[in-house]
Amino acid sequence: MAEIYRREKWATRIGLILAMAGNAVGLGNFLRFPVQAAENGGGAFMIPYIVAFILIGIPLMWIEWAIGRYGGSKGHGTTPAIFYLLWKHNFSKIIGVFGLWIPLVVIVYYIYIESWTLGYALRFLLGLVPEIPTQVGDSDSYLQPFREFLSSYIGSGQDFLKPSVYAYGIFILTMAINLWILSRGVSKGIEAFAKIAMPTLFILALILVIRVLLLETPNGSAIQGLNFLWKPDFSKLGDPGVWIAASGQIFFTLSLGFGAIITYASYIKRNQDITLSGLTASTLNETAEVVLGGSLAIPAAVAFFGVANAVAIAQSGAFNLGFISLPAIFANMPAGTFLGFLWFFLLFFAGLTSSLALMQPLIAFFEDEFGLSRKNSVLITGGIVFFSAHLVIFLNKSLDEMDFWAGTIGVVFFGLLEMILFMWIFGGERAWEEINRGGLIKIPRFYYYIMRYITPLFLLILLSVWAKEYIPKIIAETHWTVWVTRFYLIALFLFLALLVFIAEKRKAQEVGVAEE
Ligand code: PFF
Repeated sequence: MAEIYRREKWATRIGLILAMAGNAVGLGNFLRFPVQAAENGGGAFMIPYIVAFILIGIPLMWIEWAIGRYGGSKGHGTTPAIFYLLWKHNFSKIIGVFGLWIPLVVIVYYIYIESWTLGYALRFLLGLVPEIPTQVGDSDSYLQPFREFLSSYIGSGQDFLKPSVYAYGIFILTMAINLWILSRGVSKGIEAFAKIAMPTLFILALILVIRVLLLETPNGSAIQGLNFLWKPDFSKLGDPGVWIAASGQIFFTLSLGFGAIITYASYIKRNQDITLSGLTASTLNETAEVVLGGSLAIPAAVAFFGVANAVAIAQSGAFNLGFISLPAIFANMPAGTFLGFLWFFLLFFAGLTSSLALMQPLIAFFEDEFGLSRKNSVLITGGIVFFSAHLVIFLNKSLDEMDFWAGTIGVVFFGLLEMILFMWIFGGERAWEEINRGGLIKIPRFYYYIMRYITPLFLLILLSVWAKEYIPKIIAETHWTVWVTRFYLIALFLFLALLVFIAEKRKAQEVGVAEE
């Protein structure tokens, strides 16, 4: 046999929990959650959201931690190889390719958005932000300066986007920061950074929350925003759209179905607890999302513009709440540019600990399956991400298309397959034992049934409702940039599948040589 290559391990339990929480707490908590909640009726959203957390989030989280730890104990951190351990059939490797493809596609646009937060943070720190007219009649003229600021930053156009040179430069800087941390490795890089970034992030968010909750204007107050978010509306429970949005948010915010939790979990020691650590990291994420994320963008927008306008802003575009309305609100307050800086710096740290997690699967793949050094694996991964990002940076609609295929549909599809592979093909009792091994808390037995029956069924229903609604729209799409993106995504998948194939041939040869 070839020499045993030693995979890295997380150094401490608190480091593992913070790295996992850093993986989960991201732009999704502070930008995506408020928009989803506002678009889906505020209080109407929270019930399906909590149900999805209990019936999809928690079970899938334990499953991914267990699959990852299991794979890591056998020297593999990514799904093509791990799924083959679970199911000795070539088909499992093809399913496994999705576990490389999804994080790769998502990082391509995620890291670009992350770079905007850094770009904005620096601009606010230096005071280089547009003037807000003090006498404003309506919310629209109030937001106009920041609307123009955003559109000159990322560029606008039917087909091509022309971002500012500054934006492109900051993107390169963001890539460099990510690659530098990753090149230091799992415990010295990711874990060490999470130990600084996560406490910082919570403190920053807390400061901003306190400031926002004190807001009161003739149009409304932050407390009204909280009321809007937390007043349950049972009448919306019959609307499948709300359920789809809530479940989608649970996947995204907990990083489930991306392959990224599995890779992080592959660095956990074989007999180390996952039941309690997993629950702790998930709870931290939910706190950051509903307590902190829920008390910033929406309450601030409601205080300044009233509930109806705040909802309209959220519905007008995914980035309008975070990149237009919030900075405009801050800019008009005492010490506003500093508060704006804190807001974007918070987003940057949240984004950074997540982008590391999205990049690590491909890095782990090159290390584990090709035997490449960490430095080379980081460089090759960085090169692929950098190259692909140009599609998102310069082609209109590319970002949304990638988010749809990988970050929205792909994760649910992949989550379902993981559950079937682990709870059915690998075997329910074996899987249950694997999840509970070394556990510091005992998972109630009814979760076994949830994992085997309820969650897969839930996901299956979601996918069918989705398919029915979206397939006609997908086929009817005519914009060429969307089709270019789709072909690129298919090409990326084939490229990754080819790499998996080559890796396997090489390993087979190595074993052959060693045996001679
Ligand atoms: N959970 C992150 C967020 O809420 O922003 C997004 C994410 C990060 C998804 C890392 C997947 C992942 F591997």
